[in-house]
Amino acid sequence: GGRPDLVVVGSGFFGLTVAETAARRYGKRVLVLERRDHLGGNAWSEPDPETGIEVHRYGAHLFHTSNERVWQYAQRFTSFTSYRHHVHSVHNGRTYAMPINLGTICAFFGRHLSPDEARALIAEQAAEMAGREPANLEEKAISLIGRPLYEAFIRGYTAKQWQTDPKELGADIITRLPVRYTFDSRYFADTYEGLPTDGYAAWLERMAAPDLIRVELGTDYFQVRDRLPQGVPVVYTGPLDRYFDHAEGRLSWRTLDFQREVLPIRDFQGTPVMNYADEDVPWTRIHEFRHFHPERDYPTDRTVIVREYSRAAESGDEPYYPINTAQDRDILKRYRKLAAAERNVYFGGRLGTYQYLDMHMAIASALSLVENHLAQRWDAAAPAP
Ligand code: FDA
Repeated sequence: GGRPDLVVVGSGFFGLTVAETAARRYGKRVLVLERRDHLGGNAWSEPDPETGIEVHRYGAHLFHTSNERVWQYAQRFTSFTSYRHHVHSVHNGRTYAMPINLGTICAFFGRHLSPDEARALIAEQAAEMAGREPANLEEKAISLIGRPLYEAFIRGYTAKQWQTDPKELGADIITRLPVRYTFDSRYFADTYEGLPTDGYAAWLERMAAPDLIRVELGTDYFQVRDRLPQGVPVVYTGPLDRYFDHAEGRLSWRTLDFQREVLPIRDFQGTPVMNYADEDVPWTRIHEFRHFHPERDYPTDRTVIVREYSRAAESGDEPYYPINTAQDRDILKRYRKLAAAERNVYFGGRLGTYQYLDMHMAIASALSLVENHLAQRWDAAAPAP
């Protein structure tokens, strides 16, 4: 009970990092409001009830960072396994390592190539676009990696992600397509990587544990805001356009549909993530969650797989990735102006800034909000010594 010093709307990594830092470092009383019936935002996960296998409810979450501070901060709440992420892709009945690396190129062209030979081959294939400004995503991709690799690994996958022919998509959606001219097939290039040893829920719950933090689940900020004490600063991590009642229009998002299945076998695909590059398969990828924790004692007679499908979000769908069209950027500019005029409200996180943020980015940006804005406010309010 008692009057809070800070209200945080949303209990994802951004909101919890703000709340935890405000409570532990600055001794502030924090009220966290969360619309869902669990905390943790999209990073939250739970054991599948039938098998006990940890399933990430809102899509697979891999923790990785090169930010020393964020890595140290995360260690306060959890240890990490030695998991290293790798992805494969099925194309035309064959399996290849992703992102495209020397192993992928050698397997795809069916011959051994040195790094220089592979570079020369891709440059030659990309040359069909030489001297022309790419007019769409397809042309941009061909200018980067050539037509054969584009048609095998990018065209179908991109068409399924966006439900749009890549010829109809803007060239600016991709700035680069990483190709590695080594056999290194690690997905992330960050210094630190791992999965929380006892799961995401345990990590997130420990962040919310300080006595000064009260979390109210199943509570929508807009339903209770009139009853909140006046003058208390608010950190808002919900959708930016919703805050302003969509007055400037709706920001567009891509969503995912997940289809979960328990199979009566030990191992379905031998790896956590298999992409499906071809358009005749409707899903974009399949996750098999047991493989995220090979160190755990999971059942040997059952496995959980989740097929992932991608499409534009409609109202009521979970917003996952900003689509970020020219119109979105225009609308965003107007919301940013409105947001800057809200003296007592700080907008942050993935939804509050209309920006895709990895977990480590959300944590870093929350730490800097507390240190660069909230702490100054609290210092200024403190009685003179
Ligand atoms: P997040 O969306 O997690 O939390 C916002 C919270 O606010 C939600 O819990 C929501 O219910 C709540 N809320 C909204 N409106 C409200 C209201 N009116 N009242 C009360 N509560 C309200 N990152 C990474 O590092 N590695 C990865 O592999 C992945 N994978 C991944 C897959 C998918 C499909 C997505 C969408 C995201 C990822 N991420 C990721 C990113 C990660 O999930 C998350 O986006 C970041 O940690 C940012 O967290 P936020 O706290 O900003 O938002």
